[in-house]
Parts: sequence; structure tokens; C-alpha cells
Amino acid sequence: MTDRHLPMVVPAQDLPARVRIHEVGPRDGLQNEKRTVPVEVKADFIRRLAEAGLTTVEATSFVHPKWVPQLADAEELFPLVADLPVELPVLVPNERGLDRALALGARRIAVFASATESFAKANLNRTVDEALGMFDPVVRRAKDRKARVRGYVSMCFGDPWEGAVPIHQVVRVCKALMDMGCDELSLGDTIGVATPGHVLELLSELNEEGVPTSALGVHFHDTYGQALANTLAALQHGVTTVDASAGGLGGCPYAKSATGNLATEDLVWMLHGLGIDTGVDLDRLVATSVWMAAHLDRPSPSRTVRALSHKE
Ligand code: HMG
Ligand code: MG
Repeated sequence: MTDRHLPMVVPAQDLPARVRIHEVGPRDGLQNEKRTVPVEVKADFIRRLAEAGLTTVEATSFVHPKWVPQLADAEELFPLVADLPVELPVLVPNERGLDRALALGARRIAVFASATESFAKANLNRTVDEALGMFDPVVRRAKDRKARVRGYVSMCFGDPWEGAVPIHQVVRVCKALMDMGCDELSLGDTIGVATPGHVLELLSELNEEGVPTSALGVHFHDTYGQALANTLAALQHGVTTVDASAGGLGGCPYAKSATGNLATEDLVWMLHGLGIDTGVDLDRLVATSVWMAAHLDRPSPSRTVRALSHKE
């Protein structure tokens, strides 16, 4: 008998046995919602994600509250979830943000660079190099405090203002973040234009320039429906950290053509079908996204959420 809540497991060759899902729904998802979600609902969202088996849940951002009003409650939210038995990374753009995060006991920090000048200006009000200069003391001080640091690189494949992004431009920013002391990088396809060959080319170039695959995570938005294909290519290359957002929430307020992230449920369906362990309970995760969709008053764009929550 088949269980329509589970894919049939048929492993494929040369894939990792386990993948760590870096859940970004509460941050990348909610930062882009028109409706600001009450802080208690955000805390409940994070708790439910942890109970569904996600071990890394990006909680919020300590950015300027006027730049991202949806996450202006970071000081209220973080203490409500700090005791959960999961990693809770937070975004920090500068020393002011780091001070705020460290004061609340944050142990995982993420800085967020751009591979393009246009997005660096739109998102951080800085040039690419000015932004890297802004992150340098953040990474140093975070490492001194024994925090783990992730370096995001946005617009790794295409940019809404500049078009296709040359790979050497991406590699330069990645290397700068690694030299600064970042523990891992997340390669952002902010507007979802990447295709699998492009992903493999970037990963290979990074390896050739000395950045090991073990330090690389992938962060795909699903604008053109390519996120799962790109993820599979990255897994075949050896990547084991994949960012995703419960229910496919997301986007970026400073890149208008960015739609939702790869939905965590769609990712989990594929990984479990391939026999790859994630530790995630798909039914609980779907129930969480259905619950969140009710709060946001719109259905989840995730195909898997729709299929599994469909009433017969
Ligand atoms: P700015 O206007 O240049 O700031 O913004 P400033 O450095 O000139 O400071 C101006 C004032 O803001 C000062 O106050 C600072 O103290 C204050 P004043 O002295 O005038 O009273 N300030 C802060 N207050 C609270 N918290 C802070 C902070 N920093 C300064 N951290 C800034 C520069 C970086 C602050 C701004 O551009 C910003 O906050 N940007 C954040 C944008 C953002 O969060 N975007 C979304 C995340 S990125 C993303 O989604 C992509 C990703 O998902 C990967 C992908 O998909 O590609 C990660
Ligand atoms: Mg993103």
C-alpha cells in the first residue's frame, strides 16, 4: 500500500546521506510579507518548526527597523525562542546589529553581502567593498565571542538591474568573506534565475579558488521554478546544507523580482524520496505551513503543502 503522505524511497547514486536544512521562513519569509505578523505568532511559528524536526531556524534580523519593519520586533522575539533546542541564526548587517544580537545571547550570526553593486546599494546603502568593510569587524567580534558566522552572498547568478552576474565577481566576494573568517557561505539566487549548469559552474570555480564544498550552502528562490533542479545539482556536487522556507514564504524587500524561497516541504519530499535523511516530520511541517497561511490570509505557494493538505 502506498501512503500518499510519503514519497516512495528510491535512492540515487552519489548523493549525501544526510542534508542539513537551514530554515529561513521566519526571517526571509516574513520579512517580505505585507502583513506584519504578531510577535507571539512568530514565536509559535519558530517553535512549531523546531517541533517538526528542523534543527536550524533563522529567527529574525537585527537590521535597521525602518529598512525592514516586519522584523522590527527582533528584541521582543528572540527571548521568546532562545531556549528552544535548535540553532537560531540571526542576520546582522553592522556592529550596531551585532551589539543588539549579542546582548540577547545570539550564538549564530549571518552577514549578508552582495555580488553586485546595484543590490549592495539597494539593500545596504553601500558599495560592495564598503559593505565588506562594514562586515569585517562584525565577523571578527562575533568569532571572538565564539559565535558561528554565516556569510550570505546575494545575486550570485542574476541581478534585476545588472542582468547575468559574472562568476569571477561572485567568487571575489565569497573569498573575501571566507578570508574574513566566515564559517560557511550561503550562495543566494535572490531572484531565482539560476539553472543547474550555472550552479555547478559556480561551485566548481569556488572549489578551484580554494573554497571547499563543505563550507558552501545554497539558497534558491523559486521564481522560475528552478529551485529543486538547482538543489539536486548542488547535492550531486556534494553540498549538504540547503536553505528553504516553510510553505515557500519569502522574497526580498529590496529586490522586487524575488519571489518565495524554495519551499521546505517541496525540498523534504524530494530528499526523502531519494532516501536522504533530514530529521523532518513532513506532516507536522505541512500542518505548520497551513497554520501560518491562515495567519497570512493566503494559501501557501508550495506544491507539496497544497497536495498534502488537500481534503478528499
Ligand atoms: P544606513 O541608512 O546607511 O545606516 O543603512 P547608517 O549606518 O547610516 O545609520 C543610520 C542610523 O541607523 C543610525 O542612527 C544608526 O545607529 C542606525 P542615528 O545615529 O542616525 O540615530 N542603525 C541601526 N539601528 C538599528 N539596528 C541596526 C542599525 N544600523 C544602523 N543594525 C543598514 C545601512 C545596513 C543599517 C541598512 O541598509 C539596513 O538595515 N539594511 C538591511 C536590509 C535587509 O535586511 N534586507 C533583507 C535581508 S538580505 C536578503 O534577504 C537576501 C538573503 O535572503 C539572500 C538572498 O536571497 O540573496 C540573505
Ligand atoms: Mg533570500
